[in-house]
Order: sequence, then C-alpha cells, then structure tokens
Amino acid sequence: MFILAAAGSAVGLGNIWRFPFIAGDNGGGAFILVYLVCIFLIGIPIMMAEVLMGREVRSSPINTLRRLVTVSKASPAWILIGWMGVVAGFFILSFYAVIAGWAMDYVLVTAQGTFEGATSATASATFNSFLESPLQLMLWQTLFMIITVWIVARGVSGGLELAIRVFMPMLFILLVVMLGYSITTGGFGEATEFMFRFEWDRMGVEGVLAAMGQAFFTLSLGMGAIMAYGAYVPSQASVPGTVTIIAMLDTVVAIAAGLVIFSIVFANGLEPGQGPGLMFITLPLAFGQMPMGTLFGTVFFVLVSFAAITSAISLIEPALAFLVEEYNAVRSRVAISLGVITWVLGLGTVFSFNVWADVHLIGERTFFDLLDYLTNNIMLPLGGLLMGLFVGWVLPRKLVSEQLQMSSAALQAWFVAVRFIAPIGVATVFVYTILRGILG
Ligand code: PHE
Repeated sequence: MFILAAAGSAVGLGNIWRFPFIAGDNGGGAFILVYLVCIFLIGIPIMMAEVLMGREVRSSPINTLRRLVTVSKASPAWILIGWMGVVAGFFILSFYAVIAGWAMDYVLVTAQGTFEGATSATASATFNSFLESPLQLMLWQTLFMIITVWIVARGVSGGLELAIRVFMPMLFILLVVMLGYSITTGGFGEATEFMFRFEWDRMGVEGVLAAMGQAFFTLSLGMGAIMAYGAYVPSQASVPGTVTIIAMLDTVVAIAAGLVIFSIVFANGLEPGQGPGLMFITLPLAFGQMPMGTLFGTVFFVLVSFAAITSAISLIEPALAFLVEEYNAVRSRVAISLGVITWVLGLGTVFSFNVWADVHLIGERTFFDLLDYLTNNIMLPLGGLLMGLFVGWVLPRKLVSEQLQMSSAALQAWFVAVRFIAPIGVATVFVYTILRGILG
C-alpha cells in the first residue's frame, strides 16, 4: 500500500509534463545526466530519510519533527522544515491544479477528434487559444480542485488504492505503446541523441539547479509528502527496498515520456525548448497520426489526470494531517478550507498565461514561473538539505539504524549521502547560482 501511495505521489505531471519541458529548455543531455545523478545520490537517500522519520513517529510531518526534536534534545528550529513543507505544498498544488486542468480539458478536446491529421500549426493554435481564456482554465482548475478535495476529505484509502492499482499499470502500458510509435516516427534517433549526449555547453549553472530541483519534485521530496506517507509503512517493510522501487519506477516513466515527446519534436521539426506547452503541442500530433490515435489520446489524458490527482492528494496531506491532529478538526472541513485557499492562489497561475502574461516578477518571470522556481528550485532542495542534516547529524544513530535495518556498509554509505553528499551538493549548487546571479 505504501508503495502504491508513494508511487502515486511520485508519478505525476512532474514526469510527463515537467520533466520533458525542463529538459528541453535546458538543452537535454547534460541536464538529464545531472538529474539522474541527483536522483540516485541525493533523492534516494533523502527519500529513505523521510520514510524513516515518518515511520518512527507515525503522525503528520510537523508533529513528527516536533517529536523527533524532543527525542534528540535538539533545537525546535528544525520544526521549520515541516512548516516550509506545508507552504511549499500549497504553492505547488496551486499551479499543479491548473496544469492538471489542461490535461482534463485535453481529454475532451482529443475525444472530439480535434487532432486527427493535425499539423503542428493547428496543434499549437488549439493550445494557445485555450490558454487565452482565463475562464476555461479556471473551469478545469476548479473541477480538479473539487475532485482532489473530495477524495482527500474521505481519507486516503479505499477507492484511491484501487485507482492506483488499475490506472498506473495502464499508464505504463500506454507509454510503452507510444514509445513503440515514436520509434516509427523517424525522430527517435535524434531524440536519444538529444537526451543522452552530454554536451555541457548546452547547459549553464541554472541548468544544474533546475535538474536538482526536478529530482526533488519528481520524487515528491523535501516538503513532507513522503514523510506523511511513511507514517503508514509497516514496521517489517524494508525502507531501502521500497524506496528504490519507487525511484526506479518514477525515473522510467520520466525517461519514457521524454523519449516519446522528443521523438515527436524532432520528427516534426519542432523546437525542444518551448516551455510548459511542450507536451500539449507535441503529443496531439502523435495522436493525430497514429492508428486509433483519438482513442489512445483520450485514454492517455484520462490517465495523466488520474496520475495528477494521486500526486495532488499528497501535496495537501502534510497540512491536512497536521490541522486534523492539532485541532481535532473535522477532516472534510479542513480539506475544503485548504482547497479554497489553494484555488485562490491558483488564479495567479491561471492569469499568468493570459491577462498577466506580461507581468514580470523578479527577472523575466510570470507569477507561475516564479512559484515554480521558488518551490522546485529553492524550497524543495532546501527542505532536502535540512532533512539530510537533521537525520544525519541530529537524530540518535540508534533510532536511525533500527529503522533502516541495513548492513553496516550500506548504512555507512547512506550516512555519507545524507550527512555530506546531499547537503553539500545542494548548498554548492545554491551558492554557485547565487554568485552567478550576482556576478552575471
Ligand atoms: N512528484 C509529483 C510529480 O512528479 C509532484 C509532487 C511534488 C507531489 C511534491 C508531492 C510533493 O508530479
């Protein structure tokens, strides 16, 4: 069950929508290498840290940290990790709901046969005219929030488990089918070139930060989502084993999505770096050309919407679980209130693609760009850095080793990762990016 829930959290828009476009914007090859290194050297160890903390205390992330601080007689300042996670969860969910709304809209648009025989010009025109309508975007964002809140209000279990068990494998199968299609497009060779040829000059320091941020985002790390789910891991389950499975699954989905999307990009002479619209402009082309494309496309967008819902649930869970524990509040009321706040914040993202498209904050960023940057490139890695330090240096060693149940060599290696590699890695990238920003 934990594997299902955590995989449901990890696999989402981050893999299918965000990974390809961020990789495209940052030149491919070297970006993906850094991303993979971050997954294995930082992501997996930090995910183990989150699970072990969650399982040790078995409550919401904020209360988990409170308890662990007491146990370790450490400064209460560490509890801020939990609060920052709650805020990051709100910020992320606010834009996540808008993008998930796009996927939901595309279920209908694809089902109507809009993309049969479409050219890249018509595919981009369809997408751009959709973005121009704040009302349309709001409609779908609202629907997505309602569904998420409704599921969360009823408690994370039952129906959700079934949905993950059925839809996740379907998503895999469909991705494999599309991978098969993408090999026939003539763009596949160029796509693998683009993704796996490490040309460092195609990427700058910002690219390294983006790759690290994406590694945290895609594994749902640094904000307490996995810690919250860790509370449900049975004591006899192996933490390293389950975490490795989840990380592998997540990585395979992202790479497959990348291969599919970039094959279509190159087969149609498109640009890989075209921002958040990448998936919504390229995939319809494939669905328009492949046999039974309308059916496959419709099912695909349904599955992506489901994948987004299972991730969205984990974005609210840390805040929700905390409020319910702390104030003994009614779960459904808390869920609705949190949903409303997130929805309002999400309007900023809705407007970023139309009426506020020219409003730039801090650099050339729209409101959406800023939220995305702040959460993925700063808050999540910072959360991960602090978690690494806390688990590696502050928690009693005995508690940690009892939770992980690993051979002493493996435990030693893990300690090196959380004590040194993750914190120093994240800190170095931060400092570098800041210096680059200042020195130009
Ligand atoms: N991992 C999710 C995705 O890839 C997003 C997410 C981030 C979910 C952080 C929870 C916490 O879509």
